[in-house]
Amino acid sequence: MKPNHPNRKVLVTGGAGYIGSHACVSLFAAGYQPVVFDNLCNSHARVLERIGEVAGQAPDFIEGDIRDAQALEAVFRSFEPGAVMHFAGLKAVGESVERPHLYQDNNVGGTRVLLDVMQRMGVHSLVFSSSATVYGDPDEVPITEHAPRRATNPYGQTKLDIERLLETLTAKDARWRIACLRYFNPVGAHPSGRMGEDPAGTPNNLMPFIAQVAVGRRERLQVFGNDYDTPDGTGVRDYIHVMDLVQGHVDTLRLLEAGAGLHMINLGTGRGVSVLEMVNAFEAASGRRVPYEVVARRPGDIAACWADASLARERLGWTAERDLPAMCVDTWRWQQQNPRGYAED
Ligand code: NAD
Ligand code: UD1
Repeated sequence: MKPNHPNRKVLVTGGAGYIGSHACVSLFAAGYQPVVFDNLCNSHARVLERIGEVAGQAPDFIEGDIRDAQALEAVFRSFEPGAVMHFAGLKAVGESVERPHLYQDNNVGGTRVLLDVMQRMGVHSLVFSSSATVYGDPDEVPITEHAPRRATNPYGQTKLDIERLLETLTAKDARWRIACLRYFNPVGAHPSGRMGEDPAGTPNNLMPFIAQVAVGRRERLQVFGNDYDTPDGTGVRDYIHVMDLVQGHVDTLRLLEAGAGLHMINLGTGRGVSVLEMVNAFEAASGRRVPYEVVARRPGDIAACWADASLARERLGWTAERDLPAMCVDTWRWQQQNPRGYAED
């Protein structure tokens, strides 16, 4: 590869999932060539056709598990990617409490295998999906990247363990170019209505639950507590449109192309939104009512969490552009046009 022609192929682990699939669209738009590697444990192969529809070309797809070193090695040999976006992982907090070993094995074990293979294949650029969960219950908001890290559940522990693994790796070997992007609360869908979030079973997260109430799949939302120390008593979060989030990944690839090192960067809007504000915004966007009842707090929940997003602006030249109405309108378009997600009608 000539120095003036950087390798445009990007291996996207977990690329059939919610965020990874949207990342493929943004990668194509920026002139990269995503190659998806996913075991489909929480996604559907049909998403690849949808990426093709939306982006004008579908990515190559290899079905496989990141814990399978041989399968990964074969992918590196045949596609020769220059960088990896690593989305593959399990993410359900409740399940992680019931099955902590599975989460360690899949998320941390899988990442170790991936890193070993990358090292052997001479690929040292990695964008990793971290999470604001590494801040646990924050001492103050907005949260900067210097805030103390602490895990409050086994899922969060896997993100913390992987961040530490990546710190050790970059300290030992100066060739690595790594970014841990700490997502706040990704929501929304591609504006075409052809791609979006398709959670299996009952949604754990607020936005997909609201969308399913609005479309009539569920009767009412349960609001988990209205006695928090927040303006209306309900939990406050930093919701970020998935298209903004994935644009941040493409900008990060450019940062990594410029030099070695390790970056820890928040991706959020810097604005907190309460559960009731979200309900109101979704009603306005959809024209549907979202009935709700207030119930007890969800164990392990925190009152408020939003990002200081200034480092992303400084390092990446990135800021979130899409507002709350856009997040709701795009989610609604996806939900309305695909009431059963990617499942066959
Ligand atoms: P998702 O479940 O939709 O996508 C993850 C994908 O990884 C799925 O397609 C799944 O099949 C695949 N996968 C899981 N284990 C695998 C394995 N061992 N081998 C190969 N593929 C495997 O989740 P998402 O919302 O797109 O999240 C992507 C990443 O971002 C995850 O690492 C998640 O922890 C992180 N993250 C997500 C959020 C969020 O709210 N969605 C917030 C913070 C961080
Ligand atoms: C959850 C995860 C967290 C993950 C984040 C982003 C838990 C305990 N934490 O956090 O690890 O990083 O998603 O994916 O699952 N709410 C309701 N009713 C609902 C659902 C949610 O009132 O049916 C409220 C919650 O109490 C919270 C807000 O809505 O105040 C957002 O909840 P959710 O979407 O689950 O995100 P997080 O709590 O930030």
